[in-house]
Amino acid sequence: MKKHYLLFASFLVLFFACQKKYDLPPIVENSDWKTKVISPYPQNTEGNPDSGFYYLTKGAYLGSGIPYAIMKKRVERNPEKFARKSGLASEYGFAVFETIQGVEVMNGTCFSCHAGKVDGEVFLGLGNSLNDNQTNLTTPAKLLNWRVRKKYKNDSTTIAAFDDFGNYFKLMAPYIHTENPGVNPAARIAEACMRYRDPEDLSYTPEPQYDVREYNLASDIPALWHMQKKNALYYTAVGRGDFTKLLFQASVLGIKDSTAARVAQKKFVHIVAWINSIEPPKYPGKIDLELAEKGKKVFQKKCQGCHGTYDEPETYPNKVVSINKIGTDPLYASYASDSKIVGWYNQSWFAQSEPRSWFEPERGYIAPPLDGIWATAPYFHNGSVPTIYQVLKSSARPEKWKRSQDSKKYDWEKVGWKYKNKNRGKGEMTYDTTLPGYGNQGHTFADSLSENYRWALVEYLKTL
Ligand code: HEC
Ligand code: HEC
Repeated sequence: MKKHYLLFASFLVLFFACQKKYDLPPIVENSDWKTKVISPYPQNTEGNPDSGFYYLTKGAYLGSGIPYAIMKKRVERNPEKFARKSGLASEYGFAVFETIQGVEVMNGTCFSCHAGKVDGEVFLGLGNSLNDNQTNLTTPAKLLNWRVRKKYKNDSTTIAAFDDFGNYFKLMAPYIHTENPGVNPAARIAEACMRYRDPEDLSYTPEPQYDVREYNLASDIPALWHMQKKNALYYTAVGRGDFTKLLFQASVLGIKDSTAARVAQKKFVHIVAWINSIEPPKYPGKIDLELAEKGKKVFQKKCQGCHGTYDEPETYPNKVVSINKIGTDPLYASYASDSKIVGWYNQSWFAQSEPRSWFEPERGYIAPPLDGIWATAPYFHNGSVPTIYQVLKSSARPEKWKRSQDSKKYDWEKVGWKYKNKNRGKGEMTYDTTLPGYGNQGHTFADSLSENYRWALVEYLKTL
């Protein structure tokens, strides 16, 4: 009897020890609205796309970085291999540039996250879902700082050129490893860096300006060619106002203060112009046009009210759909509404100086444009669903799935990633939809269709 009791007690202890506790924001319920249309904000359209691309790839907007002298040998021996080993789709993912101190440094560009591969081909503007961000970078960030500071004198120009990047990398490192493979912590990077900046002049503050939650929530990466249709940026439509300011935020990891920020932000007019010039990639395979035509009719009836129309003239309604109505995982939207970065941002240089931008998170997700949707797997804001077919049939979505890291393994039939079901056991590269924020539920708008109509819809979506 006593033995059984002990066994039971130790089972209980084990059970509770195994329960991971997460620091999660409350889920915001909302039933007061179903959809909301976001109106446009006047944007500066004077930029030059070629200058934008040059600027994006040359990297001066990044401010600071790793002294290139310590990287040079490794990078120049085989740049392509270096990119691949760093989880980048191409060499555009990093830039070597001269800082204001005149020191050559290296840092990751927008294309470290915004260039991806499908079937072995690189597409600029496609999210880089090949990268795995599950490693905790706290120790590597400390080691990098130690290595650089050991090699160069404290008052040297090289340390000055490294300092901002080195410090912010160390400060944000504990907050950016992800719980699942393939998802991206960009929103956390912003949250973790901004809190050590004075809102008014963006200079470093030793004390954090606000607290962040422990749980590292991450997202998929949207395709950049959607921006030209959008009135608000990001999955929760949190990014409002002037796009040059919103996008410049992405390079704030290595910028010294608002004076340096102003110089870089002015160039973002060109970056916006370049992003607005990207065309979505065309589906490379054969399309059954008759079947696609049938799918188009279904789309007009069931989908275009939220996702817009794709014949001339194209329309896009800029509609946010509330958490309750869309039914996809509510945590990301709840997180955005809960995060203290919103208050910080709205008091900061970004919001208080012209041109203005501000944060206004919605308790819902924007219905994205579907141009080039065939290439942008995995699907939904959290990248929880591997193929388009499964977006259109919720019962077919896998709970735990592992995709090959080989971009050549694309599923041309269901359109998206090939994967293996991993319901029995977890491997490191297994996406687990039972973790908080990574659920694959909701968006059941095509569930009631017959298989014939569903396949017709898949065929039509290939044409966009
Ligand atoms: C660390 C990876 C990373 C880097 C670097 C990065 N981004 Fe992003 N970007 C993301 C992620 C993830 C999102 C989605 C976040 C969200 O919606 O909550 C995003 C969103 C965007 C969007 C909004 C798209 C939409 O449809 O709403 C644009 C535009 C954008 N990024 C441009 C840029 C530019 C320009 C740079 C360089 C200055 C950059 N990004 C650097 C990961 C990154
Ligand atoms: C009530 C509005 C609404 C309707 C109707 C609707 N959608 Fe969506 N759709 C959304 C929203 C919102 C999302 C984003 C959900 C998320 O990321 O959590 C989405 C996401 C998607 C995605 C994934 C996009 C991506 O990049 O990950 C596809 C594909 C899609 N919808 C296709 C369709 C099709 C096809 C139909 C018609 C059967 C349809 N949708 C009907 C609102 C809608």
